[in-house]
Amino acid sequence: MSVIAVVGGQWGDEGKGKIIDFLAEKVKVVVRFSGGDNAGHTVINPYGEFRLHLVPSGIFYPQVTCIISNGVVINPAVLLTELDELQSHGVDTSHFIISDRAHLIMPYHTLLDGLEEERRGKGALGTTRRGIGPAFVDKVARVGIRVGDLLNKDIFLKQLSSTLELKNAILTKVYQHAPLSLEEIFEQYCHYGEQLAPFIKETSSIIDRAMAREELILLEGAQGTLLDPDFGTYPYVTSSSPLAGGGSIGAGIGPMAFGRVVGVFKVYITRVGSGPMPTELQDKVGELIREKAHEYGATTGRPRRCGWFDAVAGRFSVQVNGFSDIVLTHLDIYDKFPSIKMCTAYKFGNKILDFFPSSTAILEKCQPIYEELPGWQMSTSEICDFEQLPLEAHRYIGRLEKLLSCPVSCITAGPRRNQLIEVRPILSG
Ligand code: IMO
Ligand code: MG
Repeated sequence: MSVIAVVGGQWGDEGKGKIIDFLAEKVKVVVRFSGGDNAGHTVINPYGEFRLHLVPSGIFYPQVTCIISNGVVINPAVLLTELDELQSHGVDTSHFIISDRAHLIMPYHTLLDGLEEERRGKGALGTTRRGIGPAFVDKVARVGIRVGDLLNKDIFLKQLSSTLELKNAILTKVYQHAPLSLEEIFEQYCHYGEQLAPFIKETSSIIDRAMAREELILLEGAQGTLLDPDFGTYPYVTSSSPLAGGGSIGAGIGPMAFGRVVGVFKVYITRVGSGPMPTELQDKVGELIREKAHEYGATTGRPRRCGWFDAVAGRFSVQVNGFSDIVLTHLDIYDKFPSIKMCTAYKFGNKILDFFPSSTAILEKCQPIYEELPGWQMSTSEICDFEQLPLEAHRYIGRLEKLLSCPVSCITAGPRRNQLIEVRPILSG
């Protein structure tokens, strides 16, 4: 029971990086288990301010083994830049490991991500254009190239030649794009391979040994539940499972080992990219949240769509992940609000829905039904003790816990490491 999964409960950007950075101090291993560099985990700590796309947010603790496991797709150029950046800020990266089973994002993946988005025109998904979808497609289509393949140039060349032949046919014949050069990609990726070689290992045995020693292991989720390819707002989703269950597969850990499953939620909700979002606020309140919380994508810089907390989606998220704990972030953003709304059900035509619909076409037509709660109108950003939060904040949190049927264990009211209120410890018991 030594595994704690920390995953996004909404459409991503819930503040997972900060929570991992906080919890990692007390664990031995942190594993990033899904997604790729579409993630952007902001961490502000004594080393500086970082937007981590691939490296686990536990990297700042030298005693923590930080693993990118097989469920992640890796763009080596992005990873090497990130490692460089960390090293230049004095962060030790010698305790960082990449699974030899993780798949690589190749130049044709990023290129195709953009071309596919342009082809969709008005129906574009709003992907991060980092090549995530096309890389996962190749993994499942069994034509992907894995990190471990970089260590054997003969095998790598054979795989690349065969895959690139197909990709170039698509690029030239479907998209009228110039073909990519085999020699250039081969040379570039061999160079990446040499630089990454010291970090590449078989990671499931490392995790297994840590479990045998009963060491605490944190699973760091990327994206959020509502972007899950099965349970999210399909097709406006990502391409790997951000759910706690995805952590089991992405890290190679049996579900029986999970002790706590922690869902991270903002007190409001945001979304980047296209797709339905019933509580979206296209007004001054939405703008206010965006500006106060600086809701701009950490990966793409796009303004995030902001809205009131959606308890229908939240309940669904608790259900499909089996959350034992909720972490609520960005409480301070509501500090000056005279009143705060929370969506408790949807109106669809003349029906009331209290369940998150599987059909995107239905969700697009759902109108939120709100409950309005009084705001606290005082600063919460320096409060460290739960009891000291104003009565109205207690009421808001209590109502949210009731609607989601899950206890809130931790609250953040600011981006810094010490701006955090532990209601009950996540890492004991
Ligand atoms: P973190 O880990 C927010 C969104 C994209 C797009 C959709 C598909 O920071 O929470 P993709 O590039 O994955 O094919 O895009 O998913 N998306 C995210 N939104 N936070 C993320 O990660 C995201 N990763 C992908 O905006 O709508
Ligand atoms: Mg992000």
